[in-house]
Amino acid sequence: MNVLIVLAHPDSKSFNAALRDFAADTLTYAGHQVRTSDLYGMKFDPVAHPAQFPSRADPVHFRLQREQRHAVETGTLSTEVSAEIEKLFWAELVIFQFPLWWGAMPAILKGWLDRVFVSGVVYGSGVEGLSGRKALLSVTASPCDAYAECAERIKAELHPVISNALRLPNLEVLEPIFFFVPATATVIERETAFRRYALRLSEICGGDVHAQDMRTML
Ligand SMILES: Cc1cc2nc3c(=O)[nH]c(=O)nc-3n(C[C@H](O)[C@H](O)[C@H](O)COP(=O)(O)O)c2cc1C
Repeated sequence: MNVLIVLAHPDSKSFNAALRDFAADTLTYAGHQVRTSDLYGMKFDPVAHPAQFPSRADPVHFRLQREQRHAVETGTLSTEVSAEIEKLFWAELVIFQFPLWWGAMPAILKGWLDRVFVSGVVYGSGVEGLSGRKALLSVTASPCDAYAECAERIKAELHPVISNALRLPNLEVLEPIFFFVPATATVIERETAFRRYALRLSEICGGDVHAQDMRTML
């Protein structure tokens, strides 16, 4: 499987970055192809603004969707956005790796969706978009004792972005995975989280990932 991991965390030593690394290693080990978009590492500009559209459909009123479609028609989409779209269409599974901030994804990831999910290419009337592809939200949040209860609450919090940004492009949105692991997590707590993640990944992607093999990666 071709897997794109989109990471939205400012710290390359965070638990989120560790989960990105773990997924990349585990999937590669199992024979899958993995690419990453590390949004902070790439200094991705999450703010959509008129200057990104040198050829304007409407020079007076800036309407993002209209200008996106015009940029596609005129071949003037920014290289930053085109590169991300190329990765999206390459992928069969997109993993969104992020911490829950105020019941939502970090602004850099929301902005990535605003800019990269381009009207007329990724979604839109008569557009096949990302159909046939899957999306997995891999989310860290504050410690919580009751997984199922907290998972349901966070799914409800994330519902607007799931039902609009992810489902409109025809992505198949899989059951998210949540990690309620504190920043001060012990090695055992992290190991348990990684094992749970490996199982989920092997359920989704298939491949020969065994607990025995994983020990060498921890
Ligand atoms: C600005 C901000 C907002 C947060 N909002 C929430 C929240 O709404 N719900 C929650 O469970 N945790 C919240 N947290 C805690 C983070 O989700 C948690 O620290 C993070 O997932 C831990 O992962 P990390 O160690 O990789 O940063 C918030 C943290 C920050 C910095």
